[in-house]
Amino acid sequence: MDPGRADLEAALARQPRVPLAHVPTPLHPLRRLSEALGREIWVKRDDMTGLAFGGNKTRQLEYLFADILASGADTVVAGAYTQSNWCRQMAAACARLGLSLHLILLHGQKGAKLQGNLLLDRLMGAEVEIVDLDTMEKLQPLIDQRADELRRRGREVYVVEPLGLRANVLGALGYVRACLELAEQIEASGTRFHHLYNCGANMQPAGLALGLEALRLPLHLVTVSPIRWSIPRGEDIARIANATAEHLGLSVRVTPHRVGATEDYIGPEYGVFTDAAREALFLCARLEGLILDPVYTAKAMAGLVDHIRKGLVREDERVIFLHSGGTPALFAYAEDLGLA
Ligand SMILES: Cc1ncc(COP(=O)(O)O)c(C=O)c1O
Repeated sequence: MDPGRADLEAALARQPRVPLAHVPTPLHPLRRLSEALGREIWVKRDDMTGLAFGGNKTRQLEYLFADILASGADTVVAGAYTQSNWCRQMAAACARLGLSLHLILLHGQKGAKLQGNLLLDRLMGAEVEIVDLDTMEKLQPLIDQRADELRRRGREVYVVEPLGLRANVLGALGYVRACLELAEQIEASGTRFHHLYNCGANMQPAGLALGLEALRLPLHLVTVSPIRWSIPRGEDIARIANATAEHLGLSVRVTPHRVGATEDYIGPEYGVFTDAAREALFLCARLEGLILDPVYTAKAMAGLVDHIRKGLVREDERVIFLHSGGTPALFAYAEDLGLA
């Protein structure tokens, strides 16, 4: 076995993990989409990880919930947007593991209407408060305040900091591990791939960049960002990847360049559907019966379509598209699809 792979497997085996995901997720070709775009495209189906409609968060939460359980907590406090997939999958993990969950959610584009992910959060028993802040970067003090109140009521609380390095590193481990799975599937497919496209904001591309680098997999990573934050994504993601490498005791390091981040497909702002994302979502639905989500994966596919049209993916190159899930949010975007 390659020494990089053996080191990585050994380092991951030392990390506490609560199994939550149905893995390996399939890797399969998208024949009609490939024909339409003139490039061979395969999809890695992380929308099928299984926890309350699946998605990339399941792999990430396996390591985070190991930390939560080890802390002795009976209550988790976390937050993001009302249509957050992270919070929906956290609600599912809390339900499965018998923990209570308090969510402080930003109103965002889709607000308080009980639909999509917010509906599922409530269905799975999360206590939800919706607040009207303009960015997730301002959420932390409200989460800390709620945690203090709960502690005063005798709860053992674990705070998941929305942009905290610990949560990001633990989450990134899920995608370092996914790289081992992907490497095996690539080998088994007997096919040479050139590019890996993903929609990533922090943990997922950090784990992917580190995993690819540690395994020396010659895949060019492209990270389509769904969001603009104060720190440019490439820099921040490399910082998380390198903190994850340190956490694992690996000597390998990731540069911002390796992350391949682009902020070109966000559109006006996070959570706002774009024309390019709409085209991508319809292409996959109508050519493949493959359902993307409007906030993340449709924007990543819009990036891939545009890169193909611009010749950034050459005719003789093959692509893996990581479907990171998020599909429950689609039901909150019914009116944006233009079908009515
Ligand atoms: C469907 C989907 N894809 C991609 C991402 C980005 O993942 P990360 O924040 O781990 O980079 C998210 C994050 O919420 C998501 O829900």
